Amino acid sequence: MDWGKLNRLQSIFHPTSGNTVMLAIDHGYFQGPTTGLKNPQETVKTLLPYADCLFATRGIVRTCVEENTRVPLFLRVSGGPSILGELSNEDVTVSMKDAVRLNAAGVGLSIFVGAQNEDRTVSNLAKVVNEAQEYGIPVLAITAVGRDMVRDARYLGLACRIAAEIGADIVKTYYCEHFESVVKSCPVPIVIAGGKKILEKDALQMARNAIDEGAVGVDMGRNIFQSESPTAMIQAVRKIVHEGATVDDAYALFEKLNDHKPLA
Ligand code: 5RP
Repeated sequence: MDWGKLNRLQSIFHPTSGNTVMLAIDHGYFQGPTTGLKNPQETVKTLLPYADCLFATRGIVRTCVEENTRVPLFLRVSGGPSILGELSNEDVTVSMKDAVRLNAAGVGLSIFVGAQNEDRTVSNLAKVVNEAQEYGIPVLAITAVGRDMVRDARYLGLACRIAAEIGADIVKTYYCEHFESVVKSCPVPIVIAGGKKILEKDALQMARNAIDEGAVGVDMGRNIFQSESPTAMIQAVRKIVHEGATVDDAYALFEKLNDHKPLA
């Protein structure tokens, strides 16, 4: 890997733990104003200080993130359909030049393996990897799951492996039973998405399991910004990802810091 790309990729990992807590706030690109993200400026202001990396669209970066931020940005560069349409109908939405202009540490896009437009989304990934390669920008592939698809190790393993084979430098996928087999068969690092909001303790358990089974971190959204206390939750997640804390210890921290101040 060339020096610039390695340097950008390494910027999202904690120097001591070698893991990362990426904060995913890109949901508006197909869901519109989502709970916890209805006022994106507030969400960014509240949570950015605790993130190792922000995963967001260029619109949110331009309007809600201070130019002097020290937090590396991964830019979502795919989109198109809304929640009302066919989700796999995505195209590439951001040029690599604009990603460079925004000083992105990396770019990310979804592939929809098994969905109606599987081939188009995998070829979107290939095109983005080719372009990113010219600039030394790392690419994160997201194994998006269509409405009717199962999230088991066989399916997620297939999607992660395809993403790595096409050239992704890092893959975001979901936690599942036998997750370690997904990690083992994927030659690039994996972070997990959190998925739909679940109880805080269950989300911490999921993060614990994922790290224990080989993930290098999380790229978590709803289980942080929709928590009853987003700042407490992200700090509890950090305790798991960076300090190797048990779920009980991380949850105790959540309870201690819980200010009962959810985001709009
Ligand atoms: C949306 C995404 C999100 O970034 C990803 O799903 C992480 O967010 P969450 O933890 O809420 O699942 O790619 O398409």
